[in-house]
Amino acid sequence: MNRPEPKNPPRTFHVKSFGCQMNVYDGERMAEMLGAQGMTAAEDGANADMVVLNTCHIREKAVDKVYSDIGRLRREDGTRPMIAVAGCVAQAEGSEITRRTKMVDIVVGPQAYHRLPELVEKATRGEEALDTDMPAASKFGALPGRSRQARPTAFLTVQEGCDKFCTYCVVPYTRGAEISRPWDAVLDEAKALVDGGAREITLLGQNVNAWGDGERGLHDLIIALDRLDGLARIRYTTSHPNDMTDGLIAAHRDVEKLMPYLHLPVQSGSDPILKAMNRSHTRDSYLRLLDKVRAVRPDIALSGDFIVGFPGETDADFEATLSLVREVGYAYAFSFKYSPRPGTPAADMDGQIAAHVMDERLQRLQARIIADQLAFNQATVGKSCAVLIEKPGRKPGQLVGKSPWLQSVHVVAEGAKIGDMIEVEIVSAGPNSLAGELMRRKAA
Ligand code: SAH
Ligand code: SF4
Ligand code: F3S
Repeated sequence: MNRPEPKNPPRTFHVKSFGCQMNVYDGERMAEMLGAQGMTAAEDGANADMVVLNTCHIREKAVDKVYSDIGRLRREDGTRPMIAVAGCVAQAEGSEITRRTKMVDIVVGPQAYHRLPELVEKATRGEEALDTDMPAASKFGALPGRSRQARPTAFLTVQEGCDKFCTYCVVPYTRGAEISRPWDAVLDEAKALVDGGAREITLLGQNVNAWGDGERGLHDLIIALDRLDGLARIRYTTSHPNDMTDGLIAAHRDVEKLMPYLHLPVQSGSDPILKAMNRSHTRDSYLRLLDKVRAVRPDIALSGDFIVGFPGETDADFEATLSLVREVGYAYAFSFKYSPRPGTPAADMDGQIAAHVMDERLQRLQARIIADQLAFNQATVGKSCAVLIEKPGRKPGQLVGKSPWLQSVHVVAEGAKIGDMIEVEIVSAGPNSLAGELMRRKAA
């Protein structure tokens, strides 16, 4: 590390999170922790005494962005805030970050951020402040209780880490081995969130459906949450096909508050590619799994993640992915160009795919996905559904909320406010959102 100078203790802070919902959750917990230390949150990084960049390492672009974001924190008068790099880039790069730039004061990994206040003190004294430990003891116990959330929707991490080692992926290295938070800790946090005004909770994990405590699985947690008065909706993400138990599938039939939405990444529709990715499921086993889910919950919205241009992917492999997408008819899907990550097995595989081939495949896949999204959304036109209002819309009087199928719904609803559940008739649909009209206020 470079030799830092002592500084004034920061009084205001700003946390900026990139990447997955887990990082959003971690960012909120860091903010709560700094708040508990007496620091005040600033609207943006431009005038905060301290900025936390909560980073993502999943693709190359994400990493480059971190360094350009750090550079942009330099102010016109030559000063800069105290800068902490947190998240998965911090874990992966460690002290390399402070070798590459003199602008970073703190490096803290995703399993060590409960020590952020100590690290701030160290940086203030001008000492090296780097912590990328992955302690066996959970950080969760060291975090303060949840502070009151202004929003009606909340994330709740129940599981972290990954033991699956897909050959392209950094997550097992940046987040460590799979751990499940204890049952009581999860339920206590859920209660605190509901007491604080949350009406919807999304359970989070890198493989959330791997949650377990030896006797109980994720579906048991969901059933327990279903009994919480005041909680209206339960969601969970991200799931792995191999951890999709019969109990969890049955929960989609039996638990009223569990929303009809399932994000179940498959990555490719070609068996040889799935094998090279070490996904440990096949195209067919994935499709049969979806059949089972649809059998108990016919209206379920399915979403997925796809990678195009994995090493060795032929035209035929890619066509197999397109045909899988056509077969499933996703309500929503994310698709990415393969990005070789240092230290992962796929980065050294033969048959790396040329950029222009990846571009063309991604375009074709995304065109297909967008057409399916539009079709899914248009099928809801003329129907009515409950919408949980999350935020004001752009137009005066307009509000934006989510349908049970996680679609964004714009609605003008006089008298309704954020956090209300209202009954809406869908009147029009685009690929990314719906417009609705208020039917009647639902007694919620
Ligand atoms: N645990 C989740 C997802 C983790 S990362 C799961 O297994 O589904 C989110 C998504 O990023 C992945 O589903 C994958 O589609 C994409 N991804 C991961 N590593 C990637 C890489 N090296 N290049 C491109 N996309 C990648
Ligand atoms: Fe990455 Fe695979 Fe684990 Fe998902 S299951 S986090 S893609 S290694
Ligand atoms: Fe990114 Fe780490 Fe999440 S690499 S996707 S922030 S687990």
